[in-house]
Order: sequence, then C-alpha cells, then structure tokens
Amino acid sequence: MKRLRRLRSQDAIRDLIRETVVTKNDLVYPVFVKEGTNQKIPVDSMPGIYQYTIDRFEEELDRIQKAGVKAILIFGIPEHKDACGSEAYNEDGITQRAVRYIKQKTPDLIVIADVCLCEYTSHGHCGLVEDGKILNDETLPLLAKMAVSLAKAGADMIAPSDMMDGHTAILRKSLDENGYTDTIILGYSAKFASGYYSPFRDAAHSAPSFGDRRTYQMDCANGREALRECVADIEEGADMIMVKPALAYLDIVRQARDRFSLPLAVYNVSGEYSMVKAAAQNGWIDEKRIVMENMTAMKRAGADIIITYHALDVAKWLDEE
Ligand code: PBG
Ligand code: ZN
Repeated sequence: MKRLRRLRSQDAIRDLIRETVVTKNDLVYPVFVKEGTNQKIPVDSMPGIYQYTIDRFEEELDRIQKAGVKAILIFGIPEHKDACGSEAYNEDGITQRAVRYIKQKTPDLIVIADVCLCEYTSHGHCGLVEDGKILNDETLPLLAKMAVSLAKAGADMIAPSDMMDGHTAILRKSLDENGYTDTIILGYSAKFASGYYSPFRDAAHSAPSFGDRRTYQMDCANGREALRECVADIEEGADMIMVKPALAYLDIVRQARDRFSLPLAVYNVSGEYSMVKAAAQNGWIDEKRIVMENMTAMKRAGADIIITYHALDVAKWLDEE
C-alpha cells in the first residue's frame, strides 16, 4: 500500500525530509524613527511596535542585535510635512539622520531605506498632486533626490515603494551618477492597493487625506499585471524584487519565483501582523505556531527574504528550537 504517513512517524524523520526552512538570515525588521527627543511611542494598532526618536533608538538597536536579525527597513516620520514632501530629500531630514546614526552605531546592520513621499507630504500621497491627480514624471526627480540623500547617509539598499512608472530607472541612474554604484535597489515591484496597510498608516502617519492609492498601486485582482511590474523593475535595473502584501498574494510569489532569477522578497505587512496579534491576544490562536506557519508558507511559495514585524519574535523562537 502507498503509505505517505511512513515519513511522518518520528521527529527526526520529519526533520530529515523537511523541504522548507526559515532562518534568521531571511528576515528584515521594519522600524519607525520619528523627529523629537526622548520618545518611545507604541503604535496602538500594532502591539509590540514603537516609534522611536533617534536618542532612544539605541534600545531598539540592542534588541535587533541580540535577536541576531541582520537587516532593517527604515521609515522616518518627519515633524514638518508639505505639498512636495521636502523633508524626504533634506540631507538633514529625520530619515537621513537616523540612517547615519544607525550605520555609525552598528555598521554591520544592513539598512534598507524606504523611498516614497507619503510620510512627508501634507496630502499623504506617494507623489506630487495636481488637481486631485498624482503626477508621475514630476515626482521622479524628487524620489531620485531622496534616494541619493539616503545612499549618502549610508543606506545599503534603497527600496522605492511609491509605484510611479519609471522610478527604478531614474533611481539607478541618479545613484550611479552620484557615485553610489554599489547601492542596491530592492524594488517594491508588485505592490497592491491593499486594505492590509492601514495599521502602517497609523504607524507612519501616511494615510492619504483624500482619495486612495488605486491610481498607482495595483488592483488586487491582477496577477499577470504583477509579473509585468516585476519585468519593468528588472529591465530598469532592480537588484531584487518584492511582492507586497504577502499572505494573500502567495500565488504571485510562486509565479515570480518560477519566472525570475533575482532574489525575491515578500513584505508581510502591518495588517497581516495586526490580525495575528489581535487573535493571539484574545487567546484564539497560538501566536508562535501561527507566525512560524506563515513564515514557512512565504518561503515555501518562493520568497528568499521576508520583511516582517514579527522578525524579532521569529528570531527568538528559532533560538529556542
Ligand atoms: C509607503 C509604504 C507603505 C507601506 C510600506 N511603504 C504604505 C502604503 O503604501 O500605503 C506599507 C507597509 C505595511 O503595511 O506594513 N508607500
Ligand atoms: Zn508611499
């Protein structure tokens, strides 16, 4: 008789034949740094996640290093916002200063800088706005300035999340022209317009003040278009690509894995995190078990890199094994 259960009879046999493993090397931890002094502010919709001012960020760096997580994705929250997101490309802006601080304190920690205007614009959109429209080409030079200023501050990677067309090409060109030929571009290639981002918008103060992001982020119904977004980023010079959100989009992850040879990241976004946390806090699910199942699923679907707010917990649980 065909007995598939034969290989499930003992721990050691299951360990021998396990197809997918999650390691600390796969993890990227997102962090929020805000303007001001002596503050550590909990994000209500994301239990366990805080906004730090730079002078309090050492505590977070300690936790990251003790956990053994090797890369962070940094989001800055400026005090001053305006229509063109000036603080995004201010060489002394909050994010630039935070990157400088982190690279000086912990030079080996890989710093990935998100490039987008929405945290910095008064209207909360990811690009310049005119008559209610989000302008593509006019936004590109600002994103390029932002990317160069963050590379100059020491960021190892630049991750454009704005979803403007042609952004990867202009970022690559600007980085190269300014001497940052080794700065890696992690494209948020297939980024969907998603309800799963809403806790992040509390955390990063980046909710749009009118309308939504559907004219630039992708329709969640479109899988083939997601692959075209990946192709565009690859042709424009991205070093790595990403699918975002993760769990409801693992079909896209699998297709991208099968089709492209570049390193592939997934972003396990804020809403995915908050749903797990809320259910766990209610005692409805076993948090560790669910989180590790989700991590394994993302890797099984083909992800090399997992950007996740659970990263420090996952690292701790991996140590316990
Ligand atoms: C900014 C940005 C967003 C996220 C990452 N970069 C929000 C958005 O596009 O509205 C979402 C991250 C998350 O939900 O964890 N463009
Ligand atoms: Zn944005």
